[in-house]
Amino acid sequence: MTTPITKVVFPVAGLGTRFLPATKAIAKEMLPVADQPLIQYAVQEALEAGIEEFIFVTNPTNERILKAHFEANEDLEATLAERGKTAELKVVTETTLADNQVKFCYQDQPLGLGHAVWCAREFVAHEPFAVILPDDLIMAAPGCLKQMMDAHTKYGGNVVAVEDVPRELTNRYGILDVDQDDGKVASAKGLVEKPAPEEAPSTLSIIGRYILDAQVFAHLDKKMTGAGGEIQLTDAIAATIGDVAFHGLRFDGQRFDCGSMNGFVEANVAFGLKRSNHPDELRSVLKNHI
Ligand code: G1P
Repeated sequence: MTTPITKVVFPVAGLGTRFLPATKAIAKEMLPVADQPLIQYAVQEALEAGIEEFIFVTNPTNERILKAHFEANEDLEATLAERGKTAELKVVTETTLADNQVKFCYQDQPLGLGHAVWCAREFVAHEPFAVILPDDLIMAAPGCLKQMMDAHTKYGGNVVAVEDVPRELTNRYGILDVDQDDGKVASAKGLVEKPAPEEAPSTLSIIGRYILDAQVFAHLDKKMTGAGGEIQLTDAIAATIGDVAFHGLRFDGQRFDCGSMNGFVEANVAFGLKRSNHPDELRSVLKNHI
């Protein structure tokens, strides 16, 4: 029997420098893809997977805007109700999370993803937990984290989402040193953060979804730096291989790298076509640009 996973950590302290000036006054995670901010997709994916507690690792500026998004906005709700805008009212009320479901902690220095997750350790305590990087937006049904929860029920331990990437891109990802691979689930004997293409042990890369055993904190506590001089989550997970089961799941779905301009625009096209009330009209205007 595996312990149910009820907590998710969102590392959202970044400055979003690649999206300046859009991110001058708002967190990168508040940028909309079609009609929803990125963070909203991440929360919905977590809710679908059974998550009950949402831990944002952030900074005071981003906290304010994230809080405002997830708490009730009574004035707006009253106005929408008055105007009979029931569909819009439903959309707005569905974004509200209860106060006791939402936790904030700060990462005051950009010391790496491992450090960001470590900052959430007191809220996570000793339970297994999920991590979602909202920049990695995944279109999938069921959602990627739900697929991973099912794998976790089967295998326990650490489960990460993985995807094969072109070899020339291995230096952007955590890469598995594969042990066994049945084409859907792979186990690994090691993990390497952002290896050069010629040094990468495989092309199977970690995408921003993790289910982790709290043992990773024992390694993150040591504050050891790795690739790029940062405290890497990949290194902490790698250090538990042998003690904790490790599996990489090739999820069913499409991932968009919303940390890059092209990935973000592609996501807007894909989610726009899916969420628009007039997708044919959108398809036809898009054709004018290609
Ligand atoms: C992080 C992780 C990396 C992972 C990637 C997925 O890198 O360190 O292992 O493959 O997310 O998006 P980052 O994109 O933050 O540099």
